[in-house]
Amino acid sequence: MSIHTPAAEAARRRTFAIISHPDAGKTTLTENLLLTGGAIRAAGAVRARGEQRRTRSDWMKIERERGISVSASVMTFDHAGLMFNLLDTPGHEDFSEDTYRTLTAADAAVMVLDAAKGIEPQTLKLFEVCRLRDIPIITFINKMDREALDPFELIDEIASKLALDPAPLYWPAGSGGRFKGVLDLRRQQFLPYARKSSTDEEGHPDPVALKSNAISTHLDPDELGELEEGAMLVQEAAKPFDPQSFLEGHMTPIFFGSALRHFGVNQLLEGLGAYAPPPKAVKATRAGDETHVAPGDAEVTGFVFKVQANMDPNHRDRIAFLRLCSGEFKRGMKLKVQNTGRQLSVNSPIMFFASDRELAEEAYAGDVIGIPNHGVLRVGDSLSETGALRFAGLPNFAPEILRRVRVKDPLKAKHLKKALEGLAEEGVTQLFRPIIGSDFIVGAVGQLQFEVMADRLSGEYDLDVIFEAAPYAEARWLSGSDADIEDFGSKHRTAMAEDIDGQAVFLAKSAWEIGYVSERFPKLSFERTKERG
Ligand code: G4P
Repeated sequence: MSIHTPAAEAARRRTFAIISHPDAGKTTLTENLLLTGGAIRAAGAVRARGEQRRTRSDWMKIERERGISVSASVMTFDHAGLMFNLLDTPGHEDFSEDTYRTLTAADAAVMVLDAAKGIEPQTLKLFEVCRLRDIPIITFINKMDREALDPFELIDEIASKLALDPAPLYWPAGSGGRFKGVLDLRRQQFLPYARKSSTDEEGHPDPVALKSNAISTHLDPDELGELEEGAMLVQEAAKPFDPQSFLEGHMTPIFFGSALRHFGVNQLLEGLGAYAPPPKAVKATRAGDETHVAPGDAEVTGFVFKVQANMDPNHRDRIAFLRLCSGEFKRGMKLKVQNTGRQLSVNSPIMFFASDRELAEEAYAGDVIGIPNHGVLRVGDSLSETGALRFAGLPNFAPEILRRVRVKDPLKAKHLKKALEGLAEEGVTQLFRPIIGSDFIVGAVGQLQFEVMADRLSGEYDLDVIFEAAPYAEARWLSGSDADIEDFGSKHRTAMAEDIDGQAVFLAKSAWEIGYVSERFPKLSFERTKERG
């Protein structure tokens, strides 16, 4: 029996996200983690959701049909005495800020690589966000049942492209048709792989000691020699796994497997349980003074990292995803929003057990609860019992795509402003108002955000909009003294804008221009991220 103190409960939480490039196998791995964790019974439950990446219209439809992506945003399962909270990042190939923000609520990330492709562009982008937040990363090299790159090449890539120390805990014997299994480098045990047609049951032979006669039933002498040589070389070349270095974000333990064939997933889950950190103390301010909120603190606190609208146009309700940072949350509890002082009774919080929604009776640091509300909660809000705590904000990322937005019916121009502000507050897209003129510039990190936006503007606000090319390519938040910002602004009036919070933004025509102005205005910094909250 566990002792239900906030500290003990938090200590058994593992809250993590999976980062990967599309098609590397995130959906398949998620499904198999849930299977291994006992949260679902059959393969296919998550797969159905994986279909959403197929086409955009499907994605929209699924979003509208609801339930699905809300309940799949967080998947909680209890395994081996631990509570795992798997935070889903959108599976679509287009990026959205949701993906970034979700990572701020994760304590660790599993990076899935396709063994034949190594590190792909989106892996790299997501990795950079993890690095920004010092999130420790566990690497799962997937699809070993297919022809793979040389494992040395793969770990070299991790070292050179990510500047992470690779620490393989396992080493593969072959790949594709020649894939025989993996060697557990620490226990010197070989885990044989059996090709199976079925994907939903365990069926790989039991591990055997490397130095045993039984090994010859799995590996011929050549294969054994090759495995032993590879294992020896990698142990000489790579630093041994150091949990501390991993927690600090310098080192990544590496697992090899095949999510589809349910191989190596157990080991990954075991690794997550053993090495991924439980929630830690979070920096915050209380009534303006800096403080740390420890998971075991009595006061219930948390921050909203995502707000999801209910696509049912008859209901304007939203679900805010609150990552708890401390205390013992009980259903019915009253929490206060720090910046508005508003109090809400959380009577029907939602907790996400795999594919079902359930009412949460209690929750602890590391858990995520969904709070239905009517626009009271915004992304970045800090909630607590006293309402005095404020967590360091969630980042806004400099948009990669900027568009001018126009409404087709000019009589509705007034409504557009309100609608755009609403969506920006929710974090769907970012909004910039140039100082001169009456344009609205919206920014996103992924194309999909514009489509979601257009869909919601028409469905919820009855506004048909057109996105046009904007004469800007980059946006940067200005930081510096008021006088310096004013001086800069007066010299670049046509390129100045304000964001939703009234903060000064420089809209540049090119990345080169940013370099140019940064040199000429050395006292100002042109920030790529802005902390919200
Ligand atoms: P994603 O969420 O990262 O985009 O990837 P997803 O899990 O949907 O997997 C992408 C494709 O890779 C799928 O094939 C999936 O079956 C396959 N896959 C995932 N893990 C493995 C693995 O360990 N080994 C092999 N051989 N394949 C794997 P698909 O053909 O696109 O879809 P489907 O027809 O299988 O549904």
